[in-house]
Amino acid sequence: MRVLRLNLAQLRCFESLSIVPSAGLNLLLGANGSGKTSVLEALFLLSHGRSFRPGGSKALIRRGQEECTVYAELDTVGHTHRLGLARSAHGWRARIDAQSVPRLSDLLVHCAAICVEPGSHGVLTGPAEGRRRFMDWGVFHVEHTFLEIWQSYQRCLLQRNFLLRTNGDSTQLDVWEQGMANAAQWLDGQRHAYLGRLRVRLLEHLARWLPELGEPTLNYQRGWASDASLIEVLAVHRMRDREQGYTRQGPHRADWLLGFEHAPERHQLSRGQTKLAALACLLAQFDVFRELRATTPLLLLDDLSAELDAAHLDQVMTYLQSSGAQTWITGTDFPQRWQPGMRVFHVEHGVLRA
Ligand SMILES: Nc1ncnc2c1ncn2[C@@H]1O[C@H](COP(=O)(O)OP(=O)(O)OP(=O)(O)O)[C@@H](O)[C@H]1O
Ligand SMILES: [Mg+2]
Repeated sequence: MRVLRLNLAQLRCFESLSIVPSAGLNLLLGANGSGKTSVLEALFLLSHGRSFRPGGSKALIRRGQEECTVYAELDTVGHTHRLGLARSAHGWRARIDAQSVPRLSDLLVHCAAICVEPGSHGVLTGPAEGRRRFMDWGVFHVEHTFLEIWQSYQRCLLQRNFLLRTNGDSTQLDVWEQGMANAAQWLDGQRHAYLGRLRVRLLEHLARWLPELGEPTLNYQRGWASDASLIEVLAVHRMRDREQGYTRQGPHRADWLLGFEHAPERHQLSRGQTKLAALACLLAQFDVFRELRATTPLLLLDDLSAELDAAHLDQVMTYLQSSGAQTWITGTDFPQRWQPGMRVFHVEHGVLRA
């Protein structure tokens, strides 16, 4: 997929902005604080319904304004859709081809973007929640029913937790546990299959970019004992869960971990190695999406060249050039040798020129 035009209004330092990007590599250059990351954030908003930076809508909406809007004309294998999203303190409004949509996910299935930004390190070194989000984003774009089943699981989990805390009735607990177990089996199967595909691509990137770290391993933990069904586990742990007041096992506790033969501790990686490993995870996610769908997600790479030496940057750029993806890269500067193949935009305090 590719953006034919991007418009945004009242988002961070931008009063309004309109960009016609190239189908391939786009480079946003500018000084610190000029607005480069904000442009990527606008695209991320269309694909995820939220920013990758903290602060919620208050940080995103231009100071003194009520609402920010993002609009994109998006071409996906020959079909063009007009996607619009408005965010205010009260919530969001989404439109596809000028029609309002009732659920945000109706918009998000149309636009897929993979973003590598300084916070992406979290996929390796951060809490499990970020890794669950990463894997579930991948599953969602393969199986759109993911969202429905995940929400059904969450509803059952909330009910079980409520009954645990309030000394609830056992027969009611049976009902919610059965609901959890049904959803858990499907979620676990999808996650397992997704990570199996991801592993193949991930190991290819790592072998090219980080051979010095030796054999990588990717371990999936489904969130409960591997030799029992969730219904059995919940029954066995019910008493202890009542004492704790919450459910300690289930797919809401799933995780996956990337390890290296020569760096068994995650914190043994250098900053550049961590960035390359995170890049490898996200570009493997890009590869799997491309394999399973007839199109490529957008690639958003914030401050790509920071922390990478010339040889690694060249390897990554060579991959990006051949990926067929519409790619958006930001930087305060960028090596001249790559610029002739890119459409370059200069960003200056909320103003952009091509
Ligand atoms: N809600 C807001 N209202 C107005 N301005 C804002 C708001 N949020 C952020 N800004 C300003 O918008 C500008 C854009 O920030 P952004 O992070 O996009 O810059 P950048 O070009 O990526 O900078 P860097 O090179 O430092 O990463 C900054 O000057 C910031 O102070
Ligand atoms: Mg930035």
